[in-house]
Amino acid sequence: MRKQIAAANWKMNLKKDEAQSLMQALVQGVKDATVIVAVPFPYLNMALEASAQSAHISVSAQNCHHKESGAYTGEVSAPMLQSLGVQYCLVGHSERREYFSEHHQMLAHKVDICLAHDITPIFCCGEPLSVREAAAQAHHVEQQLRESLFHLSGEQLSKIILAYEPVWAIGTGKTATEVEAQDMHHHIRSLIANQYSAGVADAVPILYGGSVKASNAKTLFSQPDVDGGLVGGASLVADEFIAIAQALKK
Ligand code: PGA
Repeated sequence: MRKQIAAANWKMNLKKDEAQSLMQALVQGVKDATVIVAVPFPYLNMALEASAQSAHISVSAQNCHHKESGAYTGEVSAPMLQSLGVQYCLVGHSERREYFSEHHQMLAHKVDICLAHDITPIFCCGEPLSVREAAAQAHHVEQQLRESLFHLSGEQLSKIILAYEPVWAIGTGKTATEVEAQDMHHHIRSLIANQYSAGVADAVPILYGGSVKASNAKTLFSQPDVDGGLVGGASLVADEFIAIAQALKK
């Protein structure tokens, strides 16, 4: 079976003490599950130190710049993340696409720079409400993958993690049904199989994101092409997120 993953995305939340307590609670509470925690930059070191006490928890950045280094005040590079020991980085989250104008080409560069520095990109895709209402979500997601990922070799693609996050389900309390999630995950896997091979498609974990909670995680994760979740709001509450991690397929 593919790797099943519960990924937390803290976004721009929590002060230092709260972040430390949450991390400690995860170190204590997560058993028998693969967990990745995407924390704000100032907490990376703290999270890395805490995760060293757990066999199950890894740390992710939420973003990185698409260039190696240079005069980009306020930015953080992939080589910096690598030098800290960060193993994962979110790329192309819909909030980055929407509020920071991150487009296909830039995201392709971010994917490349992460891979060049041994950081696994967790590449996010997903359609806004208007696209879903026009029933154009399959094409929308296909374009996101084609423009930012399909330049990779099969070997490179099989190293990344994908997250399908319909924008209308993020932070809204509105979750895709398990059938909607499975349909899109299956579509994504078929696109990868056609572009590369069934073997590559089979290797890539595809997480679902958008209002995942302890109460809906098991149903979503039980779908054959759903390999876990990328969790925002519910990842800020230790017990809730630990319960989500426990709902991963075994
Ligand atoms: P949510 O966020 O779980 O709060 O909907 C998910 C995400 O944006 O990754």
